[in-house]
Amino acid sequence: MNQQEAQQRVEELYAMLHEQNHAYYVLDNPKMTDIEYDLLLKELIDLEESFPALASDNSPTRRVGGTVSERFEKVPHPSPMLSLGNAFNEADLIDFDRKVRQGLAEGTAFSYICELKIDGLAVSIQYENGHLLRGATRGDGAIGEDITTNIRTIRTVPLTISEKGKIDVRGEAYMPKKSFAALNAQRDESGEEPFANPRNAAAGSLRQLDSKVAAARNLAVFVYGIGSTSQLMDISSHSDGLNRLGVLGFQTNKERRTCATIEDVLAYVIEWTGKRTTLDYEIDGIVIKVDQFANQEALGLTSKSPRWAIAYKFPAEEAVSTLVDIELTVGRTGVITPTAILTPVKVAGTTVSRATLHNEDIIREKDIRLGDTVVIRKAGDIIPEVVRVVLEKRDEGSIPYQMPVRCISCGSDLTRLEGEVALRCMNSACKAQIREGLIHFVSRTAMNIDGLGEKVITQLFEANLIHTVADLYKLRYEQLIELERMGERSANNLIEAIEASKQNSFEKLLFGLGIRHIGSRVARTLAQEFGTMEKLIAAESEDLTVINEIGDKMADTIERYFEQAGNQDLIAELREAGVNFTYTGKKLDVEAVSDSSFFGKSFVVTGKMESYGREEAKEVIESLGGKVSGSVSKKTNVVVAGEAAGSKLTKAESLGIEIWNEEKFINEINDSKRD
Ligand code: IVH
Repeated sequence: MNQQEAQQRVEELYAMLHEQNHAYYVLDNPKMTDIEYDLLLKELIDLEESFPALASDNSPTRRVGGTVSERFEKVPHPSPMLSLGNAFNEADLIDFDRKVRQGLAEGTAFSYICELKIDGLAVSIQYENGHLLRGATRGDGAIGEDITTNIRTIRTVPLTISEKGKIDVRGEAYMPKKSFAALNAQRDESGEEPFANPRNAAAGSLRQLDSKVAAARNLAVFVYGIGSTSQLMDISSHSDGLNRLGVLGFQTNKERRTCATIEDVLAYVIEWTGKRTTLDYEIDGIVIKVDQFANQEALGLTSKSPRWAIAYKFPAEEAVSTLVDIELTVGRTGVITPTAILTPVKVAGTTVSRATLHNEDIIREKDIRLGDTVVIRKAGDIIPEVVRVVLEKRDEGSIPYQMPVRCISCGSDLTRLEGEVALRCMNSACKAQIREGLIHFVSRTAMNIDGLGEKVITQLFEANLIHTVADLYKLRYEQLIELERMGERSANNLIEAIEASKQNSFEKLLFGLGIRHIGSRVARTLAQEFGTMEKLIAAESEDLTVINEIGDKMADTIERYFEQAGNQDLIAELREAGVNFTYTGKKLDVEAVSDSSFFGKSFVVTGKMESYGREEAKEVIESLGGKVSGSVSKKTNVVVAGEAAGSKLTKAESLGIEIWNEEKFINEINDSKRD
């Protein structure tokens, strides 16, 4: 067989295998026997071996996995992955309906579409030119993790589709109940920790660095929407979109139903509340969406979620346990949080041994006492809580619980600030608060320093190596290696991770500083609006409050934060350490970068560079107005090729695409920044 004949046969095999895969996994209606399928697959594997040039990432042979990643790259989503507002009862749904009606022009015809809320994790699956290009987790909604090799192993996800152009398909990855039970049985037998529930199992499987492990986990995806598309797909409603996705070969959930009125919606909710356990997969509620795109657009979004959809969460399961103890912790702002320590009990699929008690008032209102028999639930959420005390079972002689009057860490008097329910330690030198502040700084949503968790921070703190977040940047290898259970490799990785965090976009740092009332979203808005730390510091109250999300109270805390000498010193130290003070996220300052040699061009980065990791290179290119894609095509303008670049470089050469080495890349960056 010559190459051309082989190519033709490969294409035939692709088509047959894809079709069978779809018939088997999505339609549940196999067209051939397993043996026939295996024979065709074997033929394809052999052909790819004899003609390596014919192998591709989206070959059905890749379903079994094989790629082992070192870590998951962070990838921005083409459009944000939003979450939904929640409804917990009929009244919430009726309220949602009222708001929808109010938001639409008088007399507008509209309908709802109800879907099962699959209990898994959201994924984005992008296609370009009909090929699966990337699969990503939701992450923080703006940036997720690249889990492409694992997504490819999911049999209900087509590797190629007939829709050309770019399309970002959104859905829920999940593990069917049966697969979950089998997996846990197997883990029990091999002495491994079982997964708490199918959602955790699915999430754990998709985060496997070895795609073979993920492939063996029998995951599936129900797609529930289109994030964005470059194609005019001639669809005008969500239900049209789902139907089209079905035709394209995706698995959509067939239990969806169009409802003309909120009464019909309520009937659907009641029906599925009763029937949920009959399904092969777990659901945790019902998602209700306004169907017509025109109506969705008219309703728009709030800061977090669309106004045209809501998630009804099933009522939580309850269980009974005993309150063994109340643990108190001091948070980074000095708040004392009580946590119930319980005799372990199963609630909604997981074993619960701790539950939040929130604050002093709640303990008093519910009159929760040590030794009480208590009812626990996981209300729609994952966080277990104490619902009430079973008074009939209370021991005689039990006494009401008293919160302490002094800080359990530093001993200073606790205060209750006006209008607050929390007890606070006001001593800013309180060790527990400082430690919590450090933990917050390195956490995922803040500076995201890999390898620096609560344990290491505590060790560093107790060894007197860090007092402020700026001290992290002064740490040396010799100091780290002295710590207990710290190997050479971990120490080196840690130094690298700390160094890498200096390049984070400004909002991460701003959030990490832990300024009161400044959550991660507000930090991002501030970073986008002001661009740099310097400009934010210089901002007056009025400059701050013109921003939608910033009220007087927030503006005031921000101003006061930067006025304090201690904070000014801290920022100076961070500057000295070389921590980035500039927003390099998605929003582009078009005017500033439109002259750059990156603007509007499509880049592919390949090979290894000394001064830039793949992800960093991507960030810089994007910040200068370029686009980065994973594969070389005729549309690629520039290939940045580091050391040991392979097939992408060869392909670029054959297509006559401009190629930059690292030196040229750096020069271009510097030139662009100077402009
Ligand atoms: S629609 C912008 N539909 O529930 C709307 N979500 O809080 C995007 N989910 O993050 C979500 N089943 O992970 C939608 N049929 C369904 C869903 C569903 C499960 C998850 C999804 C989302 C969360 C909503």
